[in-house]
Amino acid sequence: MKGIILAGGAGSRLFPLTLVASKQLQPVYDKPMVYYPLTTLIESGIREFCLISTPQDLPRFRQLLGDGSAWGLSIEYREQPRPQGIAQAFLIADTFIGSDAVTLILGDNVFYGGDGFSRAFAEFKGGATIFGYHVNDPERYGVVEFDGNGQAISIQEKPRQPRSNYAVPGLYVYDNNVVAITRGLKPSARGELEITDVNVEYLRRGQLRVYRLGRGFAWLDAGTSSSLHEASAYVQTIEKRAGIKIGCPEEAAFHRGFLSLARLEALTAKMPNCEYRDYLAEVVAEAKRLGAVEAQGPAAGVETR
Ligand code: G1P
Repeated sequence: MKGIILAGGAGSRLFPLTLVASKQLQPVYDKPMVYYPLTTLIESGIREFCLISTPQDLPRFRQLLGDGSAWGLSIEYREQPRPQGIAQAFLIADTFIGSDAVTLILGDNVFYGGDGFSRAFAEFKGGATIFGYHVNDPERYGVVEFDGNGQAISIQEKPRQPRSNYAVPGLYVYDNNVVAITRGLKPSARGELEITDVNVEYLRRGQLRVYRLGRGFAWLDAGTSSSLHEASAYVQTIEKRAGIKIGCPEEAAFHRGFLSLARLEALTAKMPNCEYRDYLAEVVAEAKRLGAVEAQGPAAGVETR
């Protein structure tokens, strides 16, 4: 399965922060925002990426992420000259998608917790898979309505009177038909190819699965100054308490087996002295300790009575 990261838009709600750097390059605590959705997809097993952004911002993303090879990934880049909707990504990236299935994540969506997505990815066989997350302000999002059996029965984009509190987060998984479905869409009243219209079409065909994300799962919005600040505070709180990092692509690539321990170690050694380097050095040291324990046999290093 291929992965698209959509990091376009003017970021006008973050003005003046976005005058010189796009929204998805802004810091969420200790990393650029785009690290978080990238890591979410790496954790889900995606290795081939296409990042879509505006012609002005694309060079910055290239500078930040390169061709992905340093992390055992491949990353291509495509321009979205004008913001004409999330679904336009499938037309911009059609040659990248080829004949594969594809997952799309929005560059400003920060997720944390559990293994919310891994089951959905593992169970994906075709059609479309999206998610539902309980929120306070569903009218700001795509909203999914369920019947008594938990089956999705409607999806509406930013409805004035939402039929449920379940918003659709910016992570979508589709089979290859998504390209043809998008080609058949007409722009909405706001002149965009709506991702919700894609999902409605899969629902009409009886090919849409909606997983409800549980309470232990965090979906953070980073699109306004205060939500950006809150997302940073959240990440800082968890990272300090647990001594782990959220949204660390190098670590995720290592855990997924895309990056060997030797390459992770070499990468870490090249970083300037900073907390991020210290953290990855600790990941390396821990992996070596565990490796040593495994090499000595199951009981080594474990006290048994
Ligand atoms: C978009 C989608 C919406 C979805 C949201 C998730 O909204 O149109 O369906 O719930 O992303 O972040 P927008 O970013 O255009 O407000």
